[in-house]
Amino acid sequence: MSNYHIKHFEEYFQVYRKSVRNPEMFWEEIAEEHFAWRKKWDQVLSWDFTKPEIKWFEGAQLNITENCLDRHLRTKGDKTAILFEPNDPRDPAEHISYKELHERVCKFANVLKQNGIGKGDRVCIYLPMIPELAISVLACARIGAVHSVVFAGFSSAALSTRINDCDAKLVLTSDGSYRGSKTIDLKGIVDEALTDCPRVETVLVAKRINSEIIMVEGRDRWLQPLLDQSSSDCAPEIMEAEDPLFILYTSGSTGMPKGMLHTTAGYMVYTAYTFKNVFQYKQDDVYWCTADIGWITGHSYIVYGPLLNGATTLMFEGVPSYPDFGRFWEIIQKHQVNQFYTAPTAIRALAKHGTELVDKYDLSSLKVLGSVGEPINEEAWHWYNDNVGKKRSPIVDTWWQTETGGIMITPIPFSTPTKPTYATLPFIGIQPSLMDENGQEIKGNQVSGRLCIKFPWPSIARTIWGNHQRYKDTYFSAFTNKYFTGDGALRDEVGYYRITGRVDDVIIVSGHNLGTAPIEDAINEHPAVAESAIVGFPHDIKGSALYGYITLKDTGEGRDHNNVRKEINQLITERIGPIAKLDKIQFTPGLPKTRSGKIMRRILRKIASNDTSNLGDTSTLLNPEVVEEIMENVL
Ligand code: WT7
Repeated sequence: MSNYHIKHFEEYFQVYRKSVRNPEMFWEEIAEEHFAWRKKWDQVLSWDFTKPEIKWFEGAQLNITENCLDRHLRTKGDKTAILFEPNDPRDPAEHISYKELHERVCKFANVLKQNGIGKGDRVCIYLPMIPELAISVLACARIGAVHSVVFAGFSSAALSTRINDCDAKLVLTSDGSYRGSKTIDLKGIVDEALTDCPRVETVLVAKRINSEIIMVEGRDRWLQPLLDQSSSDCAPEIMEAEDPLFILYTSGSTGMPKGMLHTTAGYMVYTAYTFKNVFQYKQDDVYWCTADIGWITGHSYIVYGPLLNGATTLMFEGVPSYPDFGRFWEIIQKHQVNQFYTAPTAIRALAKHGTELVDKYDLSSLKVLGSVGEPINEEAWHWYNDNVGKKRSPIVDTWWQTETGGIMITPIPFSTPTKPTYATLPFIGIQPSLMDENGQEIKGNQVSGRLCIKFPWPSIARTIWGNHQRYKDTYFSAFTNKYFTGDGALRDEVGYYRITGRVDDVIIVSGHNLGTAPIEDAINEHPAVAESAIVGFPHDIKGSALYGYITLKDTGEGRDHNNVRKEINQLITERIGPIAKLDKIQFTPGLPKTRSGKIMRRILRKIASNDTSNLGDTSTLLNPEVVEEIMENVL
């Protein structure tokens, strides 16, 4: 029996049992059967969570793009690999076949080589959702360069931090990007970022909006003429299984963003296998994930997972609200989309506009609906199920993280009975455990605790770029011999998991992972600010929104508070990006602190959420009068 494609619930249990009883044997079989290797591995797995060190398929040699592209040419050369839907619905969609994608990736790879990029070099990609983004990711992988995609909504300061952290010497960008009816000056943002990045030698610029931009002599080059002159012949670089594939930054609760490093073979095997089963992809299906490739969801489930399976993956440049809030549904009808994967925040935003726009389109092609990025609330789940899926398409609520590389807890559609707000059961090979605050595993059902994973899976991030100690401290120190996710979860009476949210200082706003520390750092740069603390509070559409408690240096008298509010959000936009702006700003005479000087965020969180009936243990609180004052003036 091949275990690659799971078709019913008993089969899930059988395969799951096999995968945890003998993980090495299980993953070896999957790896053998479904991928092209230049050399097979010497050892399937070696691991030690105390160091931590994790290696999958050591000794194997391969190139992931050979698996995404070359391998499909004979049987699927003319099949659409990437279906590009532009921002403006009046512009034609672009169908890029596997043959054409292969050619364009090879050309791009040669351009990178001609610009001095080779195996192991880091390339920063700051591009909108246009085909060049997917192509450049694959071009890096083709030649063994490590891509670091930075979401093109990040500010110049956020971009320069990320470029410098991984020491990228080449940056890919475009003249600008479309976002609904607006354009964004991406090249201007890059120019500004690069004033702080002395080691960047080359910027390659794709033309998208035909704007007037400044090209810096000796540094900036237009991409298209280079591609036109480039050969479409580029042999794949042969990579070791554990060679780095990419770096992707994610926020931590403190300090700098963390450059999560993913490596080649394990990531390939796990993203391919999860894609096939979680979306039940069939040969002629059109699959669409609405994420941006700047996030892990886009890496694993727009680019790698689908292409590894020879799928047609739709890439959408625009926004759900342009030209109107029916755009998603219009695209589903137009391209006969079969699998649709989006975020709860998008569902809530669309639900606000009623069902009229959904009902206008024929969505009967849909077979599977996906949700990712944050807990999906009951109301959004039902709206999605009733109005988009017409109660016919199972919803897969997929829980995972940038760090996990692939989907970890999820139903398998048509097999696992779904339950609103539950991510349900661990995917094949995943061994979750719930832990109490004393480090003991909580066994049995109908319990809740901190979500950990006991055993490595192939696509776990291997380190934080340049800071292995931080990797260990963040994920492997809270609980001995376990990967700690940072999330809380409960397990119901049948063993289904429900993710209850972060238990650290990370806040998920509209599905974006934001650390409080960098935002507070940005706020504290304001000359009038003495101190600040950010917490999340429930928000109808965003899931969580940011609430800032800010203490001004001089009691703030004589200042226009609304002006300070604006300036603070402006600073945040500059330092991080508009996604990190605060919804509410309360000026306070002080912040509640423990005797040791630690801000008691738990209290601030409760106040911001209007949940002050029981503030919990306040015995260590140094300044109770501040809490009173804050409660009186809460926004
Ligand atoms: C955090 C990871 C995984 C791709 C997008 C986010 C939250 C993610 C779910 C879900 C409840 C979820 C968790 C997690 N999260 N998916 N289905 N249900 N919470 O990746 O930016 O690394 O964020 O997103 O809190 O830890 P990320």
